[in-house]
Amino acid sequence: MEDEILLNYAIQAREHSYAPYSKFKVGAALLAEDDSIYLGCNIENAAYTPTNCAERTAFFKAVSEGQHNFKKIAIVGGSNKLIVTPPCGVCRQVMLEFCDPSKFEIILGTSKKDLKKYTLQELMPAAFFKDSLDS
Ligand code: THU
Repeated sequence: MEDEILLNYAIQAREHSYAPYSKFKVGAALLAEDDSIYLGCNIENAAYTPTNCAERTAFFKAVSEGQHNFKKIAIVGGSNKLIVTPPCGVCRQVMLEFCDPSKFEIILGTSKKDLKKYTLQELMPAAFFKDSLDS
């Protein structure tokens, strides 16, 4: 699937954002190896810390439905207008749990014109992940 199309799914997902506190609405579209797409939005909470980011919403939906193999994710955020929204550190850590960091791609931007693509390895170098537990 084209990056631009996946970004458009992320823009759609952002419409469901529940962000009454930060007012910062985020959408994510996660593409699995079998080409199914899982959408996610940020879901905030009055107690603040239970807030779930859009990327983790998408991952947790997918994993809870038995999906463990992913190709790429598109992310977009913004309050009034769309802005480039890199994933937070916690979401990067969740991605690492399920994705090959040298292959999984993270698509950032607001439209076809400003799309940038990174591998997870580029955004999360020297990370702690499951192989780190092997002694
Ligand atoms: N947020 C995400 O959904 N994804 C990120 O990677 C960055 C932050 C959300 C969390 C919170 O609801 C709002 O953006 C402001 O931090």
